[in-house]
This record gives sequence, structure tokens and C-alpha cells, in this order.
Amino acid sequence: MQKAIQSVRGMRDLLPAETPRWRLIEDETRALLAAFGYDEVRLPLLEPTTLFSRGVGESTDIVEKEMYSLQDRDGDSLTLRPEGTAGCVRLGLQHGLLFNQQQRLWYAGPMFRYERPQKGRYRQFDQIGVEAFGASDPALDAELIQFGDVLLRRLGLREQVALELNTLGSGDSRAAHREALVAYLTPLREKLDADSQRRLDRNPLRILDSKDPNTQALLKDAPRLQDFLDDASQAHFAQLCAHLDQIGISYRLNPGLVRGLDYYTHSVFEWVTDELGAQGTVCAGGRYDSLVEQLGGRSTPGAGFAIGVDRLVLLHEAVHGAWPGPALDVYATVAEPEQAGAALAFCQQLRAVVPGLRVRLDTAGGKLKNQFKRADASGARWALVLGAEEIAAGKATVKWLRESQPQAMLGLDELRQMLTTTGPG
Ligand code: HAM
Repeated sequence: MQKAIQSVRGMRDLLPAETPRWRLIEDETRALLAAFGYDEVRLPLLEPTTLFSRGVGESTDIVEKEMYSLQDRDGDSLTLRPEGTAGCVRLGLQHGLLFNQQQRLWYAGPMFRYERPQKGRYRQFDQIGVEAFGASDPALDAELIQFGDVLLRRLGLREQVALELNTLGSGDSRAAHREALVAYLTPLREKLDADSQRRLDRNPLRILDSKDPNTQALLKDAPRLQDFLDDASQAHFAQLCAHLDQIGISYRLNPGLVRGLDYYTHSVFEWVTDELGAQGTVCAGGRYDSLVEQLGGRSTPGAGFAIGVDRLVLLHEAVHGAWPGPALDVYATVAEPEQAGAALAFCQQLRAVVPGLRVRLDTAGGKLKNQFKRADASGARWALVLGAEEIAAGKATVKWLRESQPQAMLGLDELRQMLTTTGPG
């Protein structure tokens, strides 16, 4: 026997029992994006590697150690997208959508990062990303957060998720803070954890993110970014907080929230839950007013976020348990193989007259008794029997599988009436 092939570590299959929950979350999000006036774009999975080293940041974990990069046959370095914001900016620049315009865009699909897989953290994972260009007003930041609030409510998950908020200020504020942080930490270098020592030279702000208790203790007296914010940065953040207060969205200020991608300026936020263990951020984003310029465009403000769909699905499962009900309403059985053609036609007529009705025809054949066992296991509410007598009369015998109701032989019209007045299972 040949050895069976397994999927790649950290890249999951989604089985029929899981996909309806995915679809629910995707459909709700899409509907809400339309309601907020966002337009869909579709981005390639492969992009030039330089898009991410320049966009996400040379010294981020993503670019340093998590990218799936390859050389194509021309020797060009390509990378499977680890996130969508850089690609969305590239798309906007390439097609002239950004300069002096307002754009509200969204995309969905798999992202790839070579991380250590665990619950809620995968090497292929799905995001629904939302990016808005051309508005520097904090009302946009507030609206992006409002979107998350409404979506979580619609999914019945709002109580389990809290909003964490911080500001990174303008590029100038960050540079001044960075200088002070390096000056403070350099004499303490030997006492920092190994990762933080490395970050001190390359990306000192990320040290604030360290999980190491010793490093965290040393950071207690470190210069705080909040003390380096210029007036405009402070005003931007104060206005965002005022908008959130006005629309009734509460938040936790978290000065340690610095995000793992370098393009952020001003507001950053994460929607976090305690229900999923270590991987509790279900949605995250912020403003990135310098990214368009960094990627070769003319200065254009932008802000956005991405939903981690895998994690939202896990949370939905943790909170709502088994879902959904059966995927079928009607299971049609066929008495004899020679009636299969007529049964195919009848089932399709039924689907056509009762929109949304889910009808599965048994094509495995065999004894009616066995077909009924399959009907029962399918979860359908009704079984139909299509036999010689039924076909000759242009009817079907209906049996109730879950309730004690008399069976009846009904024509298409009577069947439609019965099914539409009872409502699908
Ligand atoms: P991010 O924080 O890297 O941001 O990812 C956003 C969300 O994707 C995370 O909060 C998480 O829910 C999910 N996620 C990230 N990595 C994994 C993983 N390995 N497995 C499962 N889920 C994961 C971005 O990607 C930015 N592009 C978001 C953004 C858009 N900012 C502005 N616009």
C-alpha cells in the first residue's frame, strides 16, 4: 500500500460539519460591508517579496521569519501574501485608485505565515480585510471600530469580545520616542531577553510587546510613547475616543499595544477575547498614513483592519455550540432504478417551485428500507417516496421523519403548499 499523503502542517481542511459556520460569518460580514458602502477587490496570492519587506517592515517577525517565499523560473523572488494591506495599497496604486480619492475596499481569503501552529494560529489562515483610503479624520477610525462592534453584535459575540485601543502617534512622535527608548534600554541590554536584545537594534518598539517577565519589569520605567505625542497626534486620538464615547463603544486603553506590522501611525486597535486562550485577537487594525508613500505613491492617508476568520469561527463555536441544524429539508427515495429519471425531474420541479428548499435525491439505490435509514441519518424533515404508482400519478408520497403526521401522496402543487406553509425544517 502507498503511504497516504497528509496536508501540510498548519494548513487545515474544513469539513462539511464546519463550512456552514464559516459561511454564516462570511455572509454576515459581506452583508455588513455592503451596508457600510465598501467595494470588494480580489488580490493575487503571490506578490513580489519587496512589497512586504517595504510595506510590512524589514525587521518585523513576519518579514524576518514567517514568509513563504520562492524564486520563480525567472529568478524573481515572490511571496505568498502574509497579509492583505500591502497588496491592497499596491492594487490601489497600480490602478490609480488612491490619489485624491476616497476608496472603501475589502478583500477576503487565505494568508500565509510560517508560525508555530496551535489552536487559533495556523500557517494558512483566512482574513477578511477592510481598507479605507483618502480620509485622515478620526471619524474614519471610529467607523472602522463601529463596524467591528456591529458585526460582533450580529454574530451574538459582542459580550465575549473587548476593544483595546492605543495610539502610536505621528512618524515624528515615534522617532523621538524610539530614540529615548533606545537610550534607556541600551545600558540594560544584557538583562533583556534574547529576542528583545535583537529588537533593540532593529525594532525597539516591539520590545514593549515582550512576554518575558524580566523584560516587562525593566520596561516599567521606560519612556512612554504617550509622553512623546505631538499636539496633532494627541488631538487625533482624543477625537477618536470622543467619537467612540458618543456612539457608546467602550474600550480599554492599552499603551503596550504596538501591533506586529510597521506601517501603523496614530490609532491601533484589537478586538480581543478570553475564550480562545493565547490567540485571543479576533480582529485587528489601525491607521497607516505613511504606507502609500512608502510603497511609491503620493501621500494618502489610510486605515483599516482584518478579521481573523478562523478565530471568529472558533469563538462562535465556543459561545454558540453546535450549529447549524440539518443541511437538508427533503430526502427523496426511489423505489426502482427505472424510476430514477422521473425522480430526477420531479426533484428539480420541486426545487424550482419552492425556492430555498434543500432536496437530496438518493442515487445509491437499493432497498427502500436502506434508503430510509439514509434519509433518517441525513437530518431531513421529510422523506419522499417516488415509486411506480407515484410517478404514474405525477405525485410523491410524503413521510414525516421527525413528527408523527400521516403520510400522504401529494402532487407538486399540494406539496409546494404543504412545504411553504410548514416552513423549512
Ligand atoms: P494582523 O494583526 O497581523 O494584521 O492580523 C489580523 C488578524 O488576523 C489577527 O488579529 C488574527 O485574528 C488573524 N491572524 C493573524 N495571524 C494568524 C494566524 N497565524 N492564524 C490565524 N489567524 C491569524 C494584519 O494582517 C493587518 N493587515 C490588518 C490591517 C488591515 N491593518 C490595517 N488594515
